[in-house]
Amino acid sequence: MPNEELNAISIVFLVVQSRATSSSSSRVTAQLELKAPPYPLDALEPYMSQKTLEFHWGKHHRGYVDNLNKQIAGTDLDGLTLEEIVVKSYNNGSPLPLSTMPPRHGAPIWNHDFLWTSIKPGGGGKPSGLLLELIERDFGSVDALLSEFKQAALTQFGSGWAWLGYRAGKLVVEKTANAVNPLVSDYTPLLVVDVWEHAYYLDYQNRRPDFVSTFIEKLISWDAVSARLDEAIAASKSA
Ligand SMILES: [Fe+2]
Repeated sequence: MPNEELNAISIVFLVVQSRATSSSSSRVTAQLELKAPPYPLDALEPYMSQKTLEFHWGKHHRGYVDNLNKQIAGTDLDGLTLEEIVVKSYNNGSPLPLSTMPPRHGAPIWNHDFLWTSIKPGGGGKPSGLLLELIERDFGSVDALLSEFKQAALTQFGSGWAWLGYRAGKLVVEKTANAVNPLVSDYTPLLVVDVWEHAYYLDYQNRRPDFVSTFIEKLISWDAVSARLDEAIAASKSA
């Protein structure tokens, strides 16, 4: 091979290697990527503004990804999936909540990925099919479920999340503080609302109840919730 060609290959290799290695070692690191919401940032207007998405996804969510990539570089968490990082780093053997433990950014990344796919343009309305059947069986009615879900979101003191989940064959409403997520719990998440102030302050200021009501009435993707329920049931049957 001509020398010029060899040099060109070497240069490309060095560039790729330098982008894929941590600054402190020559070990190749896997960079977790920021996933974009599956719709344009203005698609949820007027219920969740483009400005909110620009900050919430473009700044906060991006920051979690950037920080986690820095935290895991060169550690034994490097190269694991996001789910594996969340589970392996949970508590680190300490009773302290995840949000206070390094690396602390895996769970909020997972939660936000899950959030963006829990909502959609033209969302809201009513669930249907098997999901509706189980809601009526386990809560009595859709309104009763949504009332409990909203109550969980409003009574989560400070920052956190309210979830609809599937546990041992039943639908359940749960809430988690700070950045804790259900991967370390005993239920499969189906739906989430983020009640950190950064989720709603630009559009609703301190009116969390208005935000949660609008989230329920105008944004929830019941299609996504139904698909997740089907997966959870299939997984429980094959377990
Ligand atoms: Fe958030």
